[in-house]
Amino acid sequence: MTNVQYKFPEGFWWGSAASGPQTEGAANEGGRKPSIWDHWFQIDPDRFHNGVGPEHTSNFYYQYQEDIQLMTETGHNSFRTSIQWSRLIPDGVGEVNQEAVEFYSSVIDEMIAKGIEPFINLFHFDMPLSMQEKGGWENREVVDAYVFFAKTCFELFGDRVKYWFTFNEPIVPVEGGYLYDFHYPNIVDFKKAVQVAYHTVVAHAKAVEEYHALDLGGKIGIILNLTPSYPRSQNPADVKAAYIADLFFNRSFLDPVTKGEYPADLVAILRERDLLPEIVQEDIETIKNNIIDLLGVNYYQPRRVKAKEYMVHPDAPFMPEHLFDNYVMPNRKMNHHRGWEICERAIYDMAINLRDNYNNIPFFISENGMGVEGEEKFRNDEGFIEDSYRIEFIQGHLKWLHKAMGEGANCLGYHLWTFMDNWSWANSYKNRYGLVEVDIHNDFKRTVKKSGKWYKELAENNGF
Ligand code: BG6
Repeated sequence: MTNVQYKFPEGFWWGSAASGPQTEGAANEGGRKPSIWDHWFQIDPDRFHNGVGPEHTSNFYYQYQEDIQLMTETGHNSFRTSIQWSRLIPDGVGEVNQEAVEFYSSVIDEMIAKGIEPFINLFHFDMPLSMQEKGGWENREVVDAYVFFAKTCFELFGDRVKYWFTFNEPIVPVEGGYLYDFHYPNIVDFKKAVQVAYHTVVAHAKAVEEYHALDLGGKIGIILNLTPSYPRSQNPADVKAAYIADLFFNRSFLDPVTKGEYPADLVAILRERDLLPEIVQEDIETIKNNIIDLLGVNYYQPRRVKAKEYMVHPDAPFMPEHLFDNYVMPNRKMNHHRGWEICERAIYDMAINLRDNYNNIPFFISENGMGVEGEEKFRNDEGFIEDSYRIEFIQGHLKWLHKAMGEGANCLGYHLWTFMDNWSWANSYKNRYGLVEVDIHNDFKRTVKKSGKWYKELAENNGF
């Protein structure tokens, strides 16, 4: 009998997360039209690692039955993916694509038949190009189009899907597309970033409202990437810097979706600089009245912060970093492939923060994982990748999560990023995160890694 030191509660969700655009492939098939990713790749392929674009990704569109079978072989009792707006409603608004309805319906049915609870997300960085041409989230009309898309999904699939998510990491398109130039439309403009962030929250709240009104008996939430902010020291200036970073990067979404309002200090910072968004009063009411049932937390890395050391050039466009500096802690434990710090303990701090400051809201770890470049070199004689580092990574985080749960944190599950190697935006296939290897040069052949075999034991033992 296996000795289980860290036991999780009965019914704990074990699984993984992925997204439509990163796995389905078939970008120009089945009636789908381009999203911003197809367009950006077309006009600027050099900005994608090794020039590999989103056309084929991991071929889930054609291999989903095999993949769902592999999910059962890697211990999944639940799995998240997303419905691509550009596949379901190719023009963003208007006609619903019947081929897409059949595809998503079959995926959902297949999962349920195999005992895997479908968790469905509605937006994973993938704005339809037709909607971006109207200004994307800058434009209030796109909010209404998204709400129509969301409602269509609830009506089509809500009889079978009981866990819905409006957005994955909604702050990332704000950062990537409007501040730091790593997503299309590559704008650098803080005022627009605020408008985009605000309209995303409005779109989210309106989708929650629609879902609750339909009374389908499931739960709806959002998936946020929470990055606990640690000050360099207890010096009040460092502590304040970390507080401000937390306002911008965590609480700008966490507070409105869980409490129905923005932190007053964040509003004050923006007001002082004339950076508040344009607001329709009734939207404020919608945000207030439509908080989530369940929170997904993606956790990869902490943020370390120190007080600002140098003054900013007076003409520099405003950035959150005008109010704090990021701090590079000496001797950080790192995943050098990704350039991200590994700090397992932060998952505990995040969970305790939700317990103490967010009414102990039910949440689950909706992503956590380790991207590694050149994994082929870990292939063993039996032909599969021996990714023991990934197993250690998962264990390290689960230990801290287990401790937080022992102290009352309301965590319902753990989803790894990700089930099989997939296409990761501008990083393309650089870093592999999967429990299952995908050979993109050999008919997308799937091979379960050591971590995939271990994950099955983890789920069967409900711990390790
Ligand atoms: C998460 C996203 O933030 O990180 C995923 O939700 C993404 O879509 C994952 O693939 C890993 O990102 P990267 O940039 O390391 O490949």
